[in-house]
Amino acid sequence: MKSLFEGLIGWIDARFPLMQLWNDHLAKYYAPKNFNFWYFFGSLALLVLIIQIVTGIFLTMHYKPDAELAFASLEYIRRDVPLGWLIQYMHSTGASFFFIVVYLHMFRGIMYGSFKAPRELIWLLGMFLYMTLMAEAFMGYLLPWGNMSYWGAQVIVNLFSTIPWVGPDIAIWLRGDFAISDATLTRFFALHVSAIPLALLALVALHIMALHEVGSNNPDGIEIKEHKDADGKPLDGVPFHPYYTVKDIWGSVAFLFLFALVVFFAPEMGGYFLEPDNFTPANPLLTPEHIVPVWYFTPFYSVLRAIPDPQFGALAMLLSILVLFFLPWIDRNPVRSVRYRSLLYKINLGVFVVTFAALGYLGFNPPTPLYSELALRFSEWYFLFFIALWFFSRPRRNMERLLTLVVVLGLISLYDVVRVEPGHGMLVFLGWLMPAVFVAVMVFGSGIEKLGRDLPVPDRLTG
Ligand code: HEM
Repeated sequence: MKSLFEGLIGWIDARFPLMQLWNDHLAKYYAPKNFNFWYFFGSLALLVLIIQIVTGIFLTMHYKPDAELAFASLEYIRRDVPLGWLIQYMHSTGASFFFIVVYLHMFRGIMYGSFKAPRELIWLLGMFLYMTLMAEAFMGYLLPWGNMSYWGAQVIVNLFSTIPWVGPDIAIWLRGDFAISDATLTRFFALHVSAIPLALLALVALHIMALHEVGSNNPDGIEIKEHKDADGKPLDGVPFHPYYTVKDIWGSVAFLFLFALVVFFAPEMGGYFLEPDNFTPANPLLTPEHIVPVWYFTPFYSVLRAIPDPQFGALAMLLSILVLFFLPWIDRNPVRSVRYRSLLYKINLGVFVVTFAALGYLGFNPPTPLYSELALRFSEWYFLFFIALWFFSRPRRNMERLLTLVVVLGLISLYDVVRVEPGHGMLVFLGWLMPAVFVAVMVFGSGIEKLGRDLPVPDRLTG
């Protein structure tokens, strides 16, 4: 049996570089030996991508991309198609899990400085993946033709009409009509099931090729290629197969267990994964009380709503995503991993996590005066994270500290002065304290040895 298998491999190998691919990417690909929990999420993102593609193919067999039939075809899938309910819930839960996994994967990249040289291209390709994934989720969300599908698409497509001069024409071009209609549904369907998945697969291939060209980073943020044995193998590395294939299989099983719990017991996740408004058909005459996107878009939606002017709001939201592309050039500190960064850096990262979660929460809720004020302040904190990263890139002189404080506080205060209304002064002042105190602590704290100094980075992996 073994020789038959070997014979087959030999036959293929004479015609296709099978063993070479296996060795280059698995059996002889040396990865740092200290991968931890955070290194599960790349392979899990791959797993969810496969789940989405396979369940998507089965959904397409029964779904009708027609404004008259779409909603009913989904009911039919859930109620009448054998195991249709399972496939549909796996696909809708899969969308949310995809973003959970990708957000954790991105956070790992930020935490361990995996975006820094020589891995900038991996990061950039990851960001293109993230944006493509957003487009895929947005277009998929219109397909059930529920009322939130309809109004959500309306709001997002209308954002494009805020682009000066060409915006309204772009919005018509995207919709294929003057309002969200059957034409929009059919084109979103075409893109959702063919063009965008193809782009995702191509980007994943490029992402992994780029990773294997330079090698993986690790929780210590140290290059393992710098210490090799006599055979040229990294001393702190282990072959990806079998060490990490086994680890990733273990991670995938644990993940599938959690995934199954949600699919079987809480597929709607209290309205976060499947919104109640989407169980009624699209109705252009009935606007839902609160139009909210799915949870994974709400942090950016909060930034959009934080500024009342639609054009500036849309610009701020665009910037909040685009700024991530520039991370490798914003944070130029040579120390990669959070393990060896200063206490202030750690606080900054912690505040960023809280900020992102708070923006997500606020975006999901109606914009009361208090929530609007908080959304603005958390949006400011969101951008301040990047300013602090840039500031920590190298030791700063007192003059630079003062200048940064004056410029940042000046910009924040200027906006407060132009927008403040009678009766809201106290709320605005208290809100102003949030970014003001934060900037002051970051800028002046960096001059204090215990707060601002990075730790010595060891030569070899610590475990
Ligand atoms: C469909 C989405 C994605 C898939 C399937 C994917 C897949 C992977 C895989 C399999 C790895 C190697 C294993 C690991 O390090 O965990 C990896 C590494 C990496 N990914 Fe992704 N990824 C995706 C999205 C992203 C995004 C959105 C970003 C950031 C914007 C990103 C940034 C990175 C970085 C920086 C690394 C290298 C990490 C290191 O060496 O420490 N990826 N990705």
